[in-house]
This record gives sequence, structure tokens and C-alpha cells, in this order.
Amino acid sequence: MSFTVAIDGPAAAGKGTISKAVAVHFGFAHLDTGLLYRAVGAKVLAGADPVAAARALDPADLDGDALRTAEVAQAASRVATDPAVRDALTAFQRGFAARPGGAVLDGRDIGTVICPGAQVKLFVTASAACRAERRWKELQAQGSDMTLETVLADVQARDARDAGRATAPLAAAADAVLIDTSDMSIADAVARTIAVIAAAQKSLQG
Ligand code: CDP
Ligand code: CDP
Repeated sequence: MSFTVAIDGPAAAGKGTISKAVAVHFGFAHLDTGLLYRAVGAKVLAGADPVAAARALDPADLDGDALRTAEVAQAASRVATDPAVRDALTAFQRGFAARPGGAVLDGRDIGTVICPGAQVKLFVTASAACRAERRWKELQAQGSDMTLETVLADVQARDARDAGRATAPLAAAADAVLIDTSDMSIADAVARTIAVIAAAQKSLQG
């Protein structure tokens, strides 16, 4: 039987870090759905048509540090406003979510649009200042010379575009558990998520 965990939230809230740890803990497969949009964004920066790029996306396109740049993140958030791009990526995500053995998917619209029937939904957030500082540290480690102010402006622009778009905007599902990681360690955020999932599994087992 499939068991799906949907983790949504804004940029650098900790979704990926929590998802990876949870996947290891429960033996679930993990899909970072942001990588799909980043891969399409990267192809568009290289001159491709967004919808054609989304339809032709190959799992091999999801590898690589080149997708982690701020420029690709912005391109991802622009292509993500196109309903035809989102449509082209839906079947792959739903197929992944239905894997036997369980799956965790993180993104913006997993609990609301991709997997509205997910057994567990979480909305992970943190203050914009906190998220910008986390992302800035990551970019610094990659050798980027972006200032904290630029990273903050970037994160805020992306949040506004993601939350304001007409199709599948960034939003918490009505039945999502909210986790604000601003003052939480990674270990605490992971422990809290594991507890939510374990409780859902227990109640399903009756
Ligand atoms: O996937 P998402 O963009 O939501 O965030 P992430 O890549 O999991 O986390 C962004 C950065 O914040 C990573 O460097 C994490 O190590 C860090 N982080 C943190 O400092 N405290 C947390 N509670 C969660 C993540
Ligand atoms: O790691 P971070 O949270 O900064 O970004 P990401 O999860 O890699 O997502 C990059 C961009 O893809 C987001 O700003 C969204 O515009 C878009 N995205 C989306 O629209 N729907 C998803 N399920 C995942 C990402």
C-alpha cells in the first residue's frame, strides 16, 4: 500500500533537510519536486521552450550542483507560474507518490494539488530573515559572493511570485500540520516530523 508524506513551504524553510531525514528513518523514497522546476528553469536559461522542456524532462536532468544557483531558482519560479509546465510535471510526481513502501515529496503544492489525499501533510516555514541567512550560508559554501541583502531580496521575490500565482500557489493545505523552524534545530524539526508521521501510521493501523 502507498503512504505519502507531503511537505510544502517557502524557500529554505528546511523542507529538503527534514524530508531526507524522514526518508532515511522510515525507508521512504524522497522526491525534491523543486528540482523538476529548477531543471526546466535551467533549460529555459539555455534557450529551451518551457513547456517542451517540461514534457521532455528526464530523471538524469535532476542531478548536479548547477541547479542549486540563485539564478536557476528564479528561473524555476518563473516557469512554475505556467499551468502547462505544471501539468507536464504532474504525472511523474503522482507516480512517485504512489510507490509501494512510501514516499515523501517536498515542494509548494504537494498537499494541495499533487497529492491532496496524502496520509501526512506538513507545512514547514520560518521567518524570511532566518531563511535568507540559511540560504546565504549555503551559497557562500558554494563559493558565491552574493550579499545577505541580495539573498533576502531574492527569497522574498520568489516567495511573493510562488504565493501570488494563479495556478497551484504556495499555500498550506487546510489539514496540514504547521512547523515553524525559525527557532528550531534541525534535530528538533526532524523529531517533530517523525512523531507526526508515526502517529498517522499508528492511527491507520487502527
Ligand atoms: O528545502 P528547503 O529549501 O525548504 O530548505 P533546506 O535546503 O532543507 O534548508 C536550507 C538550509 O537551512 C540548509 O542549509 C539547512 O541545513 C538549514 N536548516 C537549518 O539551519 N535549520 C533548520 N531547522 C532546517 C534547515
Ligand atoms: O530549495 P528552495 O526551497 O529554495 O526552492 P525549490 O524547492 O528548489 O523550488 C524552486 C522553485 O520551484 C520555487 O520557488 C517554486 O517556484 C517552484 N516549485 C513549485 O512551483 N512547485 C513545487 N512543488 C516545487 C517548486
